Amino acid sequence: MSQPRILIVDDNPVNVDLLKAQLKPFPYNLDSAYDGEEALKKIYDTMPDLVLLDLMMPKISGYEVCRAIKQNKETQFIPVIIITALSELDDKIKAIELGADDFLVKPFNKLELTTRIRSLLNLKALHDDVDRSENILFSLVKALEAKDGYTRGHSERVAFYATAVAAQLGLSPKEMEIIRKGALLHDIGKIGVKEEVLLKPGAFTKEEMEHIKIHPSVGYDICKPLKSIAPCLCCIRSHHERIDGEGYPDHLSGKEIPLLAKIISVVDSFDAMTTDRPYRKKMPKETAFKIFEKEKTQGQWDPAIVEAFLDMMHSLKEIK
Ligand SMILES: [Fe+2]
Ligand SMILES: [Fe+2]
Repeated sequence: MSQPRILIVDDNPVNVDLLKAQLKPFPYNLDSAYDGEEALKKIYDTMPDLVLLDLMMPKISGYEVCRAIKQNKETQFIPVIIITALSELDDKIKAIELGADDFLVKPFNKLELTTRIRSLLNLKALHDDVDRSENILFSLVKALEAKDGYTRGHSERVAFYATAVAAQLGLSPKEMEIIRKGALLHDIGKIGVKEEVLLKPGAFTKEEMEHIKIHPSVGYDICKPLKSIAPCLCCIRSHHERIDGEGYPDHLSGKEIPLLAKIISVVDSFDAMTTDRPYRKKMPKETAFKIFEKEKTQGQWDPAIVEAFLDMMHSLKEIK
C-alpha cells in the first residue's frame, strides 16, 4: 500500500518545518503549501489523505480552505486537522461548523499529533475501501448496460431525474444522495437475468416476463452485504412495486412502498417510455407527459410524485 499523503498548510515556514520534523520518522508522504490558494490547488491536484491546516493565512484563509474541502463531493472525506493557538476558541467553533475533523493546539504535543493523525488516516482508509466497493457496483451496472444498446445510460438518466424529483419534493441533501446511488443501482439485479432474455430483440413471453421480475430481489441480494448501501436497498428492491399492490416482488401497496422507491418507479417508467426498446420505438416526451397526467390516479404511481415529476420537467424546460 502506498504511503498516506499529508498536506501541511501554514503561511509560516517555521511551523511547516516543525511539523515536518515531527512527522518525518513516520511512513507518511509529506507535502506543504504556504497559503490558501496554493493549498486548494494541491488538494485538487494530489488528493491528499489528510490536511493539517492553519487558520490565519493570506489570500484565502484556512476557514475558506476548510469550507471548500468539505463542500466538494470529491474532497469532503479528506480529514482536516486545524492548527490553532489556544486562545482562538471562537475560531475553533467556526471551524467545527465548517466541518473540520479535529484540532491541534500550538505548541504541538508530538504524541497527540501522531495519535490524531493515525486515527483520522485509519478512518479515511476505511472510507476509501467503502468507496471502492461502491464504485465496483456502479461499474458493474455500466458494464451490464453497455452490452445492450437500448439501455445504455438508463441508470444515470434515472439517477438524474430521481434526484431532481427528490429536490422538487424538498427532500434533504442526504436523501438526495441516497436516491442518487439507489437509482444508479436499481437494475443491478439484471445481472441475474438470462442474457438471451435480456437482449431479446422482440416482445417477451409470459415466462420471460416472470424471469425478468427476479431482478429487484437479485439486486437486493447483491447489494445487501455492503453496509454503506443499506439506505438505498429500498430503491433496488421496491422500484417495480405499484400503489395498487399489483407490482413486484413484495406486492406492497400505497404507503407500504418507500418514498424513494416510488420516485424511482415514476422516472424509471418515463425513461423506458422515452427511449427505444427492441420491441417498440420511443415516444416523444410530450406524449409520455400526457400518459402520466392521464394515469396518475390509476394505481401504478403515487399521484403526488407524478405531480412533482411533471412540475420538475416543466421547470427544466423553462430553464433550457
Ligand atoms: Fe427495473
Ligand atoms: Fe430501470
